[in-house]
Amino acid sequence: MSADSTTSTRFQRLFAPLRVGPMLVPNRICETTNTIRAARMPGFVDDAFIAHHLAKAKGGTGWIGSETFLLNSPLPAEAADEFFPGTGAIRIPLFKMPGFVESVAKFCEAVRATGSVVVCQLTQLNFTMAASSVPIVEAYDWIPHELDASEIGQLIRTYADAAEEFAKAGVDGIEIHCAHETLPQTFLSPAMNTRHDEWGGDARARTKFLREVLVGIKQRIGDAMALGIRLNGQEDREGGYDLLELREMVSHVAETRTLDFVNVDVGHSWGKTSYVQSSYHGHAVYREAGMALKVDLEDIPILFSGRVNDPGVAEQLLEEGCCDLVGMTRAGIADPEFANKAREGRLSEIRRCIGCNRCIAQSIQDDAPDMFKKPTCSVNPEVGNELFYAMRYERAQQKKRFVVVGGGAAGCEAARIAARRGHAVTLIERGPKLGGQLNLASRAPGRDSFEDFVIFQENQLALHGVDVRLGTEVDAQEILALEPDAVACATGSVPRVPATPGVDAAHVVQGWDVLAGRAQVGERVAVVSQEDYFETPNVADYLAERGKRVEIFHKWMGIGAQIDRYSIGAVMSRLTEHSVLIHTGLRLASVGSGTLEFRSAFGGRTRSFEGFDSVVLVYGSVPDARLYYELKEAGSTARLFLVGSAWVPRSLAEATQHGARVGMEI
Ligand SMILES: Cc1cc2nc3c(=O)[nH]c(=O)nc-3n(C[C@H](O)[C@H](O)[C@H](O)COP(=O)(O)O)c2cc1C
Ligand code: SF4
Repeated sequence: MSADSTTSTRFQRLFAPLRVGPMLVPNRICETTNTIRAARMPGFVDDAFIAHHLAKAKGGTGWIGSETFLLNSPLPAEAADEFFPGTGAIRIPLFKMPGFVESVAKFCEAVRATGSVVVCQLTQLNFTMAASSVPIVEAYDWIPHELDASEIGQLIRTYADAAEEFAKAGVDGIEIHCAHETLPQTFLSPAMNTRHDEWGGDARARTKFLREVLVGIKQRIGDAMALGIRLNGQEDREGGYDLLELREMVSHVAETRTLDFVNVDVGHSWGKTSYVQSSYHGHAVYREAGMALKVDLEDIPILFSGRVNDPGVAEQLLEEGCCDLVGMTRAGIADPEFANKAREGRLSEIRRCIGCNRCIAQSIQDDAPDMFKKPTCSVNPEVGNELFYAMRYERAQQKKRFVVVGGGAAGCEAARIAARRGHAVTLIERGPKLGGQLNLASRAPGRDSFEDFVIFQENQLALHGVDVRLGTEVDAQEILALEPDAVACATGSVPRVPATPGVDAAHVVQGWDVLAGRAQVGERVAVVSQEDYFETPNVADYLAERGKRVEIFHKWMGIGAQIDRYSIGAVMSRLTEHSVLIHTGLRLASVGSGTLEFRSAFGGRTRSFEGFDSVVLVYGSVPDARLYYELKEAGSTARLFLVGSAWVPRSLAEATQHGARVGMEI
């Protein structure tokens, strides 16, 4: 089958339909399962859930994997809790709850009306109980209960019970989650399965659990739905399986003749080898896993995913024989319409996923109750707000003159949305280029993808006719002379300078100036950090890559505390490779000519360090709202907005969302 005649000739393979078991997938673009927590009622399919995932189907993604469905675990009757937060163990079968089947059916109907298919993932994400009492996620070291034979039997039945309910709902396919340290992977893994009974041992024995799950499902549902598995191509942990051993295990699983597809990715959730690969990873860097299984399993379609954010890369993977279907999950979070845009040849309109991992960070935020884990994307403000935008987004009733000052993330987004709605927008930027802090972030090693968002905004502002004036500094009177109906001050922030004795010395510089290439530093550098996200490791990495000997002095327990566990491995491995030394729990007390004095963050002794040529401060930033207050004092009748970091410095996602809301308000 080939792509239809409206398809851009560049993507003939990507838009060719494919039969997968009983389902016909309209093209090769897949939303692999991503539990972004779109539903307002965790674990259920509601209107917010449907709106989020349906946007991708409408935007041309052929395979909608939506979010994972957790199955019930055989918790002992006397165990106190129904839910074990963070561990995935639940007592009640959610798929048996009243209205569940109907809600999934409603979702399937809506997706199928677009021509796409729905594949639901069944998961025993269970860190409470596992094949053996061996820690599952290396970042945590929780020790699970070792399952006995009766519990294993119950678990196998949960899959078949659930499959039956999903068949009633009319889903097109189901996928058994065997990757990402879910329970079936604890059986497959020689590191996590140390059993000596029939469920453990050699490669074949370790597949017994999965084989029985698949056969059990098949006996119940027959060919009603496509049936597949999601696998981790290589464990990359001490004693874990490699790709060769995985291939052997897959050959045993394939003997069951139950598989309609195999979905493979690579990585875990704590180290450099991450299955939600961040900007530090190359595109489809683990494609070898897809290629190997495609060779081994000639007749079974292979889905591969892992940082494919561009239709060109996806087409290339198909052409090179790495897979039959391509996971482009975050590509669709960043831009649910990317597939249609690619098909129509509108490539410059695609908003690419920059690999910042804010989406996964938000969804796993361990310290927030489920209902506050609202889907978030740094570049797409509509994510998690689909119903709001559907209700509130409209063409302007009356064209207004809107002036935006500052071309960072918030300013660009305010200008983009307002112009798209039909307003006459002027964007004034002091610097030679749009992007603001994005330009600094993109100079750090492994962060160049941040520039993709700047390029997207440049293209969009041109497309929507925004009058962009670069290299232009304006005061309140000059703005008022433009006779605006509304003004957004998106003037950003400036680095925070502490009142610490000695920080005005010539050898003390700001991290932003280092990244911008404005500050010169000596050979031995102290990076003094009061910041918990990417800025500290990025500045240290930037310097270390240029051959500097870098030591970080951090205010608290460890750097990067707000970096998600899927990205932190790549960040820290770079610092380790560069031998960057990290001192923790220290707050700068004074800077002398050759000495740095620190106080312990936890009280007690002071410590001094010597021999640094330069000191680089990474202390976050403070708002620069001067223009906003000047305009207020000038008695402007225009509607005034203070936007993004100029209001309060936060992350990229907040700046983008704030800008978008202002663009909607005009
Ligand atoms: C917010 C979020 C939640 C995810 N949840 C799941 C999940 O529940 N099950 C799963 O198999 N993969 C999950 N993933 C992994 C994705 O399916 C996919 O493998 C990953 O995002 C890498 O592919 P991409 O580069 O195309 O985004 C999740 C990813 C994200 C971003
Ligand atoms: S939050 Fe970042 S990683 Fe996630 S989809 Fe958006 S741009 Fe991509």
